[in-house]
Amino acid sequence: MSRTTDLYDRYILNTAKRSFTLVRGKGVRVWDDAGRDLIDFGTGVAVSSLGHAHPALVETFATQPGKLIHCSNLYYNENAGPVAEKLVNLVAPGKIFFANSGAEANEGLIKLARLYGRAKRGGAYEIVATTNSFHGRTMATITATGQEKIHAGFEPLLPGFVHVPFDDIKAMKAAIGPQTAAVLIEGVQGEGGVFPSSPGYLKELRRITKEAGVLLLMDSVQCGFFRTGRFQSYERILEGDADGADFRPDAISMAKAIGGGFPIGAFWLSDAHAGLFAVGSHNTTYGGSPLGTAVIGTILDTIEKDGLVQNIRDREADLVGGLRELQSRYPVVKAVRGLGAMIGLELAVEPAVSMPKFHEAGLLLAPAGCRTLRYLPPYIVTQAEVGEALERTEKALKGIVF
Ligand SMILES: Cc1ncc(COP(=O)(O)O)c(C=O)c1O
Repeated sequence: MSRTTDLYDRYILNTAKRSFTLVRGKGVRVWDDAGRDLIDFGTGVAVSSLGHAHPALVETFATQPGKLIHCSNLYYNENAGPVAEKLVNLVAPGKIFFANSGAEANEGLIKLARLYGRAKRGGAYEIVATTNSFHGRTMATITATGQEKIHAGFEPLLPGFVHVPFDDIKAMKAAIGPQTAAVLIEGVQGEGGVFPSSPGYLKELRRITKEAGVLLLMDSVQCGFFRTGRFQSYERILEGDADGADFRPDAISMAKAIGGGFPIGAFWLSDAHAGLFAVGSHNTTYGGSPLGTAVIGTILDTIEKDGLVQNIRDREADLVGGLRELQSRYPVVKAVRGLGAMIGLELAVEPAVSMPKFHEAGLLLAPAGCRTLRYLPPYIVTQAEVGEALERTEKALKGIVF
């Protein structure tokens, strides 16, 4: 046991299974305290969108703190407005609320549903969410999460949430009633095992929620912010679908890749509903800080300047092609699914069995449900690095006995 792990054992609440100590990173690589290099396709669970120590982000962290790190929402700052404008332009006319995490962004969506139900649906407050989903670790977001293991020990949960199977429009139709204020889904379920929703489901969901007068809320914390090769996963899923061109949810939560490692969350809501929030009805200390929004601005500029959306699409083809080829030779691989920089490798064994083999092979991935490991590479990943990750994947697969 090293001094680092000993201090964790003694002083840090034991809520996560940790593997080893990381000391530095550069690009897609990280190094542990033994000097071993690892290819990081877990990216701190879909966070390090520009990889590690990206020069543009390092520059932002070197300069913005010397001007202004924080000032609270009692004042304007020069960075938040231009970034909000860019985010709105990427979605549709609306407003942005800046927060600090995915759970906090989702709390905003849940509070929106309550305000909407009270103002427009006679006090209805139920949210229909889906099984196998993940929405965060606060009390409201664990209640929204459709996984019993996340609820365990924290009951009683909040009233007003029901769960139906994901991508099942019949079940959703049956669950929506006069008591419903909103529907909440991930465009691609992430923690659940990388399950994209189908185009027909999204389109029908939009139609029935509009018809019923309930909000459609999308948790894009993991699958949003270009992760799937479009700004939003629904744009990717409905790409080329003429009937899907005007698909738009009523509100969208964002986090993870938007901050590249700096803790940021945000939600967008359409202009039609922005008036439900008023001064004093919702707020947060750090959201929209000069430093946080400078970080988002740098990431957006870099993605645009370096053509990273196209890169995500190109590397998806390399990665999925390579994993499918491995699937044809290694029966332990049960499925390859996903979009863009969010690809799931479903195995015949649990992550507890497979992950150590990937670590030995020098590849970091993120475990998920349904015996799936997530490949969440940084948007800067090169073809050669995908090739190396595939070589390391094969090495790991060779070592799995099942
Ligand atoms: C889809 C989704 N929503 C919400 C969250 C919670 O985000 P955070 O951990 O930043 O609170 C996560 C985190 O994994 C997520 O994947």
